[in-house]
Amino acid sequence: MKESSRDSFKNSFGVLVAMAGSAVGLGNLWRFPYLLGEHGGAAFIIVYLIAVFFICAPIFIAEFLVGRRAQSDTFGSFKILAPGSGWSIIGVFAIIAVVCILSFYSVVGGWSVQYFCKAVTFDFTRGSSEHLDTLFSGFVSDPYKPIIFHTIFLILTSVIVIAGVRKGIESFTKVMMPVLFLIVILIAIRSVTLPGASEGLNYLFKPDFSKIDSSTLLIALGQAFFSLSIGCGTIITYGSYVKKEASITKCATGTVISDTLFALIAGCAIMPAVFSFGISPGEGPGLVFITLPHIFSQMPLGGVVAILFFATLLLAALTSSISLLEVVVAHLTERHNISRKKAVILSFGLFWVLGALCSLSQGVLSDFKIAGLNIFDLFDYISANIFMLACGFLIVIFVGWKLKGKVIKEELTNNGALKISPMLVSIIIFLIKYIAPLAVITIVLAKFNVF
Ligand code: TRP
Repeated sequence: MKESSRDSFKNSFGVLVAMAGSAVGLGNLWRFPYLLGEHGGAAFIIVYLIAVFFICAPIFIAEFLVGRRAQSDTFGSFKILAPGSGWSIIGVFAIIAVVCILSFYSVVGGWSVQYFCKAVTFDFTRGSSEHLDTLFSGFVSDPYKPIIFHTIFLILTSVIVIAGVRKGIESFTKVMMPVLFLIVILIAIRSVTLPGASEGLNYLFKPDFSKIDSSTLLIALGQAFFSLSIGCGTIITYGSYVKKEASITKCATGTVISDTLFALIAGCAIMPAVFSFGISPGEGPGLVFITLPHIFSQMPLGGVVAILFFATLLLAALTSSISLLEVVVAHLTERHNISRKKAVILSFGLFWVLGALCSLSQGVLSDFKIAGLNIFDLFDYISANIFMLACGFLIVIFVGWKLKGKVIKEELTNNGALKISPMLVSIIIFLIKYIAPLAVITIVLAKFNVF
């Protein structure tokens, strides 16, 4: 059968690490802190946590199950599980979402490469700290430099993906994830002990619910999708490389918990410092890149910690970008019979052009706007808040109502081989069938003022 000719992860631990590697990335360290800062701190976190556990975790399980059962790419999975039906439209939405995400993701990945280079030359800790405020805006609006670093980031991503699933993705991520955790914890400790950090902690932990409105709900939900890598085929694709013995619930729980913990620790690393250095929490996408160099410049051994931090930020970004690229590459190799190498090269060309446009939209193209958003923000907005949500919604409907409870039970228990409490299985089925789809639809309709 086809299964034997496909690359796969070695064991459950390998799967967990690769999935956590996909989930933990710029979404946690860059996107979560700045959205948190723009949308009201603690209240945003609470909405985010509810979205993660009640809406996104079930979607995660549903995606995983589809991939593992079908053992095919996103598009092909629906063709295998529901032949001759229109469900493969999910695959189309997924590919659109992935293309939008990787385009701007590789630009931010490029920013991380640049900051890593600055850290290595001790740029943040040399001389006075005044230049740190303008460093970021000066760099991103430059027409050439960010594109050069974006290119480097895409090359790194492509090289790992060419190496394949087990040799490339699995072994790379296994080593990097624990290192990343340690460093962020270290920075969080420094950040909460800075003078004036308590204001930041209040901001993180004392909710003000008046700050929540329908667009905050949508943004928190979109962020939960983004951070867990759901709603665009990544988990289906990775799920398809998972052998039949692995436990879906264990891998899913491990990934969801580590990703969420990571986001919260990142919040503790950034927010207290934001307040301590008088930076505005609503600063936007530059927040992390502006705040952290300040922390490093004021920390004993800050220069060394900066190197460690930006090295791991870059690696976290890479373990996620490879999962995005893998969706496109799996699609090209399995649907269109193109070799892995050719598929990567073709994708590289596409993402290089789209990424360059996103990058320029921070500077020379900043006045070019569609629906009030520049290209970078537009790609971000439509992927996280439209295509991924549509995809996630359709996947739970597919799994809950088309595949039905029996299939879900079979997959969660590996045809009865795994002991999982029947109560837990029923709860998961209930969440997949009713809660997740209803919640997604309600939040989207609320945003468009239907109620
Ligand atoms: N989750 C990753 C992060 O937090 C980004 C990512 C990787 C992603 N694969 C994805 C986002 C698939 C959405 C869909 O950085």
